[in-house]
Amino acid sequence: MARRKIIAGNWKMNMTPSQALALVEELKPLVVNPDVDVVYCVPAIDIVPVVNAVKGTNVEVGAENMYIEDKGAYTGEISAPMLVDAGVKYVIIGHSERRDYFKEDDAFLNAKVKKAIAAGLTPILCCGESLEQRETGVTMDWIRLQIKSDLAGVSADDVKNLVIAYEPIWAIGTGKTATADQAQEVCKGIRDLIAEIYDEATADAVRIQYGGSMNAGNAAELLAKPDIDGGLIGGASLKADFGKVVNAGK
Ligand code: PGA
Repeated sequence: MARRKIIAGNWKMNMTPSQALALVEELKPLVVNPDVDVVYCVPAIDIVPVVNAVKGTNVEVGAENMYIEDKGAYTGEISAPMLVDAGVKYVIIGHSERRDYFKEDDAFLNAKVKKAIAAGLTPILCCGESLEQRETGVTMDWIRLQIKSDLAGVSADDVKNLVIAYEPIWAIGTGKTATADQAQEVCKGIRDLIAEIYDEATADAVRIQYGGSMNAGNAAELLAKPDIDGGLIGGASLKADFGKVVNAGK
């Protein structure tokens, strides 16, 4: 089964609403590719203007985070129903920056994954090892633990529609990309794990992205690997380069 590639920008805490609109306009002609799903995961305050700005284009909008309750006294948080009502289709869950700086653990992320799915959002579930873990040789053990915990109780049918992003922490924002072989090895390991927990059909359907200093220069080689179905792009999603990543597979 041919999986459709998905290229998602992760803007992180960048772009004021007016800067966001300017970026969407700049990228509009550059990100056209009928063979690829294109997503902008944007800061909460940019969601409404960006959803409006991409109307009629091939771009969908994602959130960078959400809370596990639908509404109530959770000052500062944003819920899945709010995202859905605003026109959001995807939500990043478990980015290493949220795991690290905001102490989000796997039990909390598992609740987020379930809430997102129940609301009709597609989670982009992130996993990845630190440099120390890679050097000690526990990369795959660590990632298996993350994925197993984060997907506990999630059905095969829901996993088929999920996006998993493999993002080695040492490659994020460092300019130090994993080699295409390193990225392929872990993405294949994740797919094998999904086959183990669920079945071959689920493993075959789930889309697995690579993320970590992916850019116009290295995207084609990464995307050519059989188990890499797309990219989660930080720095390079904030400039015209993103169009080259979207079209790298051509
Ligand atoms: P980067 O970020 O492309 O700037 O390394 C990727 C990410 O954190 O999703």
